[in-house]
Amino acid sequence: MPSLSEKKEEVLKGLLTQEKSLLPKYFYDERGSKLFDQITNLPEYYLTRTEIQLYQELLPSLVGTIDLNKLCVVEFGAGSVRKIRLILEHLPVEAYVPIDISSDHLNIAAAELSREYPQVDIFALSADYTKPSELPERFDEFGKLGFFPGSSIGNFEKKEAESFLIGTNKTLGTGCRFLIGVDAKKDREILEAAYNDSSGITAAFNLNMLRHLNATIGSDFDLSGFQHEAHYNVELGCVQMHLRSVRDQIVNVGDQEIAFAKQELIHTENSFKYAPEEFAQLANNAGYEVENLWQDEKKLFSIFLLRSLN
Ligand code: AVJ
Repeated sequence: MPSLSEKKEEVLKGLLTQEKSLLPKYFYDERGSKLFDQITNLPEYYLTRTEIQLYQELLPSLVGTIDLNKLCVVEFGAGSVRKIRLILEHLPVEAYVPIDISSDHLNIAAAELSREYPQVDIFALSADYTKPSELPERFDEFGKLGFFPGSSIGNFEKKEAESFLIGTNKTLGTGCRFLIGVDAKKDREILEAAYNDSSGITAAFNLNMLRHLNATIGSDFDLSGFQHEAHYNVELGCVQMHLRSVRDQIVNVGDQEIAFAKQELIHTENSFKYAPEEFAQLANNAGYEVENLWQDEKKLFSIFLLRSLN
């Protein structure tokens, strides 16, 4: 766990540069996680709904595709208890390893699941899932299926996404499979509506980052001094979220004064979108081949089954 002064330093690092930025991980305090849950149910936020529907269609067919003898599912991040339940209901999973940095949330989720699925050997691994991990020896002989739903891959820059995938290949080992949900490129209107919902939940989610920082590092952001914005950057292929300062203002972070000009932006999130062939190329670069690809009728969302080439 980083100390308070380390957190403050990390925040200041983003605010003392020419183009100010804050890391998307600061969204997720308790309130932020609740707001994100609400986002996943918004009519404009097609991602979660579409992905879950795809799993319902594809999981029964996976039973004939992958080796189900001694199947161990390794989830990178343990945010989505709802989606792992779908996997546990459809596949004969013998072991489940959720990897997450936040051990509290992880242990609660793991305990809850093991009550529901007592036959599954659950090992909660508290670690930074963006880096390779060592799995417990008792799973050496198991077939590994990596799982990374939610288009969480979209938060990584392209190069980071590639090194993340290389890392998963190391963690999972020879012959592994990897099931990953990826949001697709599409019309600007659909994308921007998903991140600018009419009920203002995404705006509250974005602004909550400032409240969270005030509560944890003692900064004094005035939430009424910033406005939510989300735009699709076509050149980069990502939706970018910002907080725009509505006036000239000074924010105190520790003993540092941060000056904001009226209209100045804080970048808070990138959400990269991938055309299927583009993601296939990225997976190839990381030592995977695409074994199967599922898309909804409107091609809003993609789920890839990757197979390690190692
Ligand atoms: C959790 C990163 C996949 O990018 O769509 C939702 C986060 N941000 N609305 C996304 C998010 C604003 C979400 N991810």
